[in-house]
Amino acid sequence: METKNLITFENVGLRYGLNAEVLKDINFQVNEGDFIFLGGESGAGKSTLLSLMNLSILPSRGFLSVLGKDVQSLNSRSIADIRRHVGIIFQDFRLINHLNIFDNIALPLLIENIDKAEIEERVSEILDWIGLKSYAKATPLSLSGGQQQRVAVARSIIKKPILILADEPTGSIDNQMANRILLMLEELNSQGMAVIFATHNSELLDSDKHRLAVIKNKRLELLR
Ligand SMILES: Nc1ncnc2c1ncn2[C@@H]1O[C@H](COP(=O)(O)OP(=O)(O)OP(=O)(O)O)[C@@H](O)[C@H]1O
Ligand SMILES: [Mg+2]
Repeated sequence: METKNLITFENVGLRYGLNAEVLKDINFQVNEGDFIFLGGESGAGKSTLLSLMNLSILPSRGFLSVLGKDVQSLNSRSIADIRRHVGIIFQDFRLINHLNIFDNIALPLLIENIDKAEIEERVSEILDWIGLKSYAKATPLSLSGGQQQRVAVARSIIKKPILILADEPTGSIDNQMANRILLMLEELNSQGMAVIFATHNSELLDSDKHRLAVIKNKRLELLR
């Protein structure tokens, strides 16, 4: 079977407002089943690149397609359709503090009006998988950083996305927990989800398990 292309960048540049470009001449492809580490120093543009893939921002120039669609031709409805298939784990988690853990994870399903019994089943299954079943009723702020990170992972995958964008998902946690998050994402990848994993954790980037793309001097280099 032919591998499906999920994302294509051709000579993409990105500037915020009238500032100078923070990304230049990006040429890059993500295909079904890929697991790609995205490296680069702080401020290099990793989160910006993920925001482009998540359609939170549009390229200032060049061609970008996400899930087969030219992003410049999309209306807000088709943007929402595409984003439904793209899970994102934010650098700062972005959990909702006045909702409990169960509801934080369930939120993407509630928005889609999925029936209650199915939500109950899917969220319970995923709480089990992240090892936080007994925390369903807890609030995010009562959890450790690593626990909150696992909740953020769970919320990003509850809709079974085709592509997961993980922004420094191991940034503020210890090595053991970082490995656990990596293993979780590898397991999802083996089930067929493509994963882009942004990090400046050199230990992870040096392990040659996965492809590696690094942003340097505003450009993306494919190192393996
Ligand atoms: N909303 C914004 N408005 C203006 N400039 C921005 C905005 N977001 C990011 N930038 C700038 O774009 C550049 C890239 O930032 P970005 O957050 O993508 O880097 P990063 O690689 O994710 O860094 P870190 O590892 O610290 O998370 C930086 O110079 C930053 O100041
Ligand atoms: Mg960032």
